Amino acid sequence: MTDLFLLDPDLTHLNHGAFGACPRPVFDVYQRWQRELERSPSGMFDRLDDELAVVRRALAAYLGAQPEGIALVLNATVALNTVLRSLRIGPGDELLTTEHEYGAIRNALSFVAGRTGARVVVARGTTAEEIWAGATARTRALVVSHISSPTALLLPVERLCALARDAGVLSVVDGAHGPGQLDLDLDALGADVYVGNCHKWLCAPKAAAFLHTRREVRPLLDPLAAGWGWGETAYEPSQDWRSARDPSAYLSVPAAIDFVTAHGRQAECRDLLRGARTLMADAGFAPFADEQPIQMAYFLLPACDPAAVTRLLRSEFAIDAPVRAWNTQPMVRISIAPYVRLDDIQRLAEALTTIFSTVRASR
Ligand SMILES: Cc1ncc(COP(=O)(O)O)c(C=O)c1O
Repeated sequence: MTDLFLLDPDLTHLNHGAFGACPRPVFDVYQRWQRELERSPSGMFDRLDDELAVVRRALAAYLGAQPEGIALVLNATVALNTVLRSLRIGPGDELLTTEHEYGAIRNALSFVAGRTGARVVVARGTTAEEIWAGATARTRALVVSHISSPTALLLPVERLCALARDAGVLSVVDGAHGPGQLDLDLDALGADVYVGNCHKWLCAPKAAAFLHTRREVRPLLDPLAAGWGWGETAYEPSQDWRSARDPSAYLSVPAAIDFVTAHGRQAECRDLLRGARTLMADAGFAPFADEQPIQMAYFLLPACDPAAVTRLLRSEFAIDAPVRAWNTQPMVRISIAPYVRLDDIQRLAEALTTIFSTVRASR
């Protein structure tokens, strides 16, 4: 399986959750599109609308959604900014979110709140009831991750979206880690807005993501950049192709879906994560949370400088695994992609044992 990826064979890769990894057959498709663009720039842009319609149809079929609800965007940060900056909110309004959100999206929320005078309310807890307890009559939008980045938790988004709908609150799900890791049915899930990255668990080239919106929400969204296409259609938040940019990553998404469908090994990856939990716990690094049907997990570490341990893992042990602190608790995250083996986890456990025995001995 490692042969199918372009990853450095001298590194142990346990950080798929950050930027994914694009397999050779998908990367070949990507480069073919890039060459086609340079061979005939005008010809390529002339047919781009049709080619992007193919991508939307493939994504819609994979996600259980309608193609007309899907806008292609560069990444989850851009997609969520598009939505948050479109909100017609003002002083006294509230944006409800959780303590498990990704840093860039927390910043986007703070930015929008600062510009509008609205307030960000951060709910504690992980159940729908705990999170929804933060809602008030002034809540205008709920922003919640499907799988959280700093804690790797599968949050109860379906229930939360139902609660939000009943209260007339816009539900925005940050599904950056969803596609490729979860079997999604976006129509059934019922989020007003669902944002997903294709360049993480779907293994597409970098800068391929989508913004999925329910029909009623589409007229509320402004384009992040108003340019060609503005005013032509009621719904053009993505500026899909009209400004000059390389669309090759978007055009490779159908190949990525085919790859993950054939080689994603979702069930095996979850089994492997179960083995990793045991192995890490035996080495003295307890899992942060109970087992969940996903491919990422955090493990508790002793007090340390997280950035220094991340650097040490890479420089001294050739291991790529992020160490971060959440609510002051240092933790290491393991991502199980199809190319990961139990040996890789063994190597991480041994490296951490060495690092922390040195730390402990020097105290
Ligand atoms: C939960 C979550 N949301 C949003 C993002 C931002 O994704 P991107 O860097 O593709 O914009 C990430 C990135 O890791 C993430 O984990």
